[in-house]
Amino acid sequence: MGDLNQEILDRLTKVCICKVITRATMKKVIAAGADSLEKVQKATGSGSGPCGGKRCTPKILELLEECKN
Ligand code: FES
Repeated sequence: MGDLNQEILDRLTKVCICKVITRATMKKVIAAGADSLEKVQKATGSGSGPCGGKRCTPKILELLEECKN
């Protein structure tokens, strides 16, 4: 899959469903230096929805892991 398709997918994929935050947004704050779960949550507001981060936290941790490589 090309970079463009990946980018479109990232924009369509909601990582934090409660706060409607896309994977593109998550990647952007990670690229800008948010290198921990707490920093990503602070930068995006994820984790503060009704689920308390139960649904998005594992996905954010996965993205952080991916972006380290
Ligand atoms: S999905 Fe992120 S706070 Fe619920």
